[in-house]
Amino acid sequence: MSVYTARNTKHRELSGDAISTRAFEQLRDFIRAESGISLGSAKRDLLCSRLARRIRHLGLRGYDEYYHHLLTVDRDGTELQQMVNCVTTTKTDFFRESHHFDFLRNHAIRQWRANAAATSNFKLRIWSTACSRGHEPYSVAITLMDHFGPRVGWDIKILGTDINTDVLEIAERGIYPIEEIADLPREVRDRHFMKGTGRWVRTVRVRDELRRMVAFRRLNIAASDWPFQGAFNAIFCRNVMIYFDEPQQRQLVAKLSERLESGGNLFLGHSENQSWLTNYVEPLGQTIYCKRGPLSTND
Ligand SMILES: C[S@@+](CC[C@H](N)C(=O)[O-])C[C@H]1O[C@@H](n2cnc3c(N)ncnc32)[C@H](O)[C@@H]1O
Repeated sequence: MSVYTARNTKHRELSGDAISTRAFEQLRDFIRAESGISLGSAKRDLLCSRLARRIRHLGLRGYDEYYHHLLTVDRDGTELQQMVNCVTTTKTDFFRESHHFDFLRNHAIRQWRANAAATSNFKLRIWSTACSRGHEPYSVAITLMDHFGPRVGWDIKILGTDINTDVLEIAERGIYPIEEIADLPREVRDRHFMKGTGRWVRTVRVRDELRRMVAFRRLNIAASDWPFQGAFNAIFCRNVMIYFDEPQQRQLVAKLSERLESGGNLFLGHSENQSWLTNYVEPLGQTIYCKRGPLSTND
């Protein structure tokens, strides 16, 4: 058998039909337990194609062996992380769902200023829970920087978290293909991004002032415990809940609402507008929510 034929055979082995129902269900349950991501049977081909690269890389013979590898060989979780990196969908963009940033600019910041004037507390904490390659937290940073200026006199920190370590590396570096900022207004591009030169010529880098505002950490938002304390003035949890089933979505929103300051805002993705959300947060329209303040004794 020539090498060409042998390779072809291996590809056939790893195509969508190659996974047994048992292996699919085992991997599906494992992924759900480790990341919260629910893969229905319609996602069978997608799972196969995403994991085929890992199976080839490890020199394994198929999905059953891969599952066995995860359970018995992968003691330090290296392959588990690689698998999570493969199965997550990471599409993002600067100022995606721009009405959320309009709301920040036109309402939330005004409210924060009024609160600060009343309490002398000039601290702002914002969390981008599934930040992918960093576009979302950097869009928040740009919005705040454009409002407050670089010497703000405010203590502003933005936390960007994600379960996928590949995207977090990109987010930390803050280097993007130049096309990804093509739709931003020219003054935003010039003020907040540096153009690459030499072999970086088709890229831009987020300026250091913005990068200093954002810290990136790996975090599984479906995990039962989050390893940090404190409440946030705004939480972005956009375009990630769609990958969770409803009980997990409810659990997540309940936990997120506990992490919001009273009056703080929760921003969800455009297709994450469920009626049950009002059990936890007050809808303000356009998938923006507000944490209700403590009830007064008159209520
Ligand atoms: C489609 S992207 C959305 C990115 C950004 N929030 C936006 O709306 O542009 C979904 C992100 O959720 C992340 N993700 C999936 N499951 C997660 C989990 N359990 N914990 C944290 N992040 C998760 C993925 O790695 C991916 O980067």
